[in-house]
Amino acid sequence: MTRILVTGANGQLGQSIQRIASNYPALEFFFKNSKDMDITDTQNVAEIFENGHYHYCINCAAYTNVEQAESEQKKAFAVNAEGVRNIAENCFKNDVTLIHISTDYVFDGEKKEPYTINDKPNPINVYGASKLKGEQYIREIPGRYFIIRTSWLYSEFGNNFYKTILKKTKTDKVLRVTDKQKGCPTHAKNLANFVLGLIDSRSTHYGLHHFTDGEAMTWYGFAKRILAENGLENSLRLKKAKNYRTFARRPKNSVLATSYN
Ligand SMILES: NC(=O)c1ccc[n+]([C@@H]2O[C@H](COP(=O)([O-])OP(=O)(O)OC[C@H]3O[C@@H](n4cnc5c(N)ncnc54)[C@H](OP(=O)(O)O)[C@@H]3O)[C@@H](O)[C@H]2O)c1
Repeated sequence: MTRILVTGANGQLGQSIQRIASNYPALEFFFKNSKDMDITDTQNVAEIFENGHYHYCINCAAYTNVEQAESEQKKAFAVNAEGVRNIAENCFKNDVTLIHISTDYVFDGEKKEPYTINDKPNPINVYGASKLKGEQYIREIPGRYFIIRTSWLYSEFGNNFYKTILKKTKTDKVLRVTDKQKGCPTHAKNLANFVLGLIDSRSTHYGLHHFTDGEAMTWYGFAKRILAENGLENSLRLKKAKNYRTFARRPKNSVLATSYN
């Protein structure tokens, strides 16, 4: 059996992996939530790796609150950079292949075309900068790794745009949504299958990859799609937001060119 440690197991991606795990009978999973395993706790992490005899670690643990990261820079970097370094060092020490998830927000959004893995990152918010630092740490450590950048994750789990739009149909009549940012919504289940497929197929295409569901749209376009998919077009009137302001700056274009799909 291939032994797989999954960190951050109660997040959207972690739960999506839990949901499909039984479809991969050759893989044995060890799910750790943030209480079982805090990736910033060096001693706890070292013990879990030494005792676990894992073949892979899928790092789903992350500080993902883009807005709050602006005022909690230290915390964002502690998890997304130092925590990731901690995981990567232990993977190397214990001969474990690391599969780490990163983000489209490592880019500044000024490019007109989709971003490829060869484009230079230039984050414009704290979350993006912390995730980029995590990527850099992994590359500095001479272990086997996959870094999978993805974007606009949604699922039945946790908080995400898809669920927010559905909730708004119950409380609001009109909703303003920005059409000034473009990206690729990605169902966490598809990412989960992609990640487990890498392991199941014993892929050796190590390094950096982009994975999304492949269709680019704005948040406004995505909201329209969500309403249509659920037959709720008449429950909520969507308007394009003129002055959509957020605390964190966000890339105008964060469409990722995928190498897989
Ligand atoms: N969501 C998106 O739109 C999006 C887009 C691009 C990339 N990504 C990346 O995709 C990955 C998965 O995202 P997601 O949406 O599944 O995130 P999520 O739902 O926010 O889950 C992240 C999980 O990490 C846990 N965590 C936080 N700090 C931790 C720590 N110090 N030690 C261990 N666990 C910790 C959280 O636990 P607690 O809740 O207990 O804190 C949470 O369960 C992340 O790397 C994220 O950066 C996400």
